[in-house]
Amino acid sequence: MNIVITGTSKGIGFHLAKLFAKDKNNTVVAIARSENLLKELRNDCIRQNLKSKIKIVVFDIEDPNNVKNRLKNEIIKHIDSVDILINNAGFLINKSFVDMDIKEIQKIYNINFISHSVLIQDLIPFLKESKLGHVVNISSMGGYQGSSKFPGLSFYSSSKAALANLTECLAEEFKNNNIKFNCLALGAVNTEMLKTAFPDFNAPLNADEMANFIYDFSINGSKYFNGKIIPVSISTP
Ligand SMILES: NC(=O)c1ccc[n+]([C@@H]2O[C@H](COP(=O)([O-])OP(=O)(O)OC[C@H]3O[C@@H](n4cnc5c(N)ncnc54)[C@H](OP(=O)(O)O)[C@@H]3O)[C@@H](O)[C@H]2O)c1
Repeated sequence: MNIVITGTSKGIGFHLAKLFAKDKNNTVVAIARSENLLKELRNDCIRQNLKSKIKIVVFDIEDPNNVKNRLKNEIIKHIDSVDILINNAGFLINKSFVDMDIKEIQKIYNINFISHSVLIQDLIPFLKESKLGHVVNISSMGGYQGSSKFPGLSFYSSSKAALANLTECLAEEFKNNNIKFNCLALGAVNTEMLKTAFPDFNAPLNADEMANFIYDFSINGSKYFNGKIIPVSISTP
């Protein structure tokens, strides 16, 4: 399989990339900004399987204009179809609603929503080439309707809600194209991002454990789900 994952330099995405890269039949395109951390990921993957096909792409997705076409062009240097796209990169600023400036709001929305939307647009032809064609959008319980909400996270949570809603829309728009779209609304996982949002909270799950779930779901979930927003949480936050 050909797998594209954003946000693979640390946290959940790092473990996800490693899981897919264990299988020498997979080609994993792993995207993030931090080149050194991505090189460590590649070394880890090769240590666990010498035949691992992990391709790192150093790319900043903050500017959607830069993402448009350019990120796709980097990806298709390595693969000619996409079986699984996991939109996992995320960004959070913990600040009250009134204090957030426009640049900060735009950065949150660009990374969490607009750039991933643009990447999906660009990869549609390559997803159509696949028999599996599964897009998994990583959202948050904060963006899940009716869940507990927290001060300081308004823009983060609403950007994640936008990604969740987009998932439903795309499942409908592409229902005749054999591409499945699902969204996982994650609960708390011990990562750097969680420390930014809830500095004193110890989550019941570590990044490798959540990555295991997302790995299985990405491969098997499209048989059972399309256009679904699925809460994956056992705690509040
Ligand atoms: N941890 C939680 O409790 C939790 C809960 C709900 C949802 N989530 C969601 O789960 C996903 C993974 O989160 P995590 O906790 O693993 O976060 P993390 O440890 O902070 O990792 C975030 C990843 O996103 C990448 N990223 C951030 N900005 C980027 C940019 N401008 N361009 C390219 N890559 C960028 C980072 O790489 P670089 O810095 O190298 O670019 C990093 O690899 C996110 O979408 C997050 O919103 C997490």
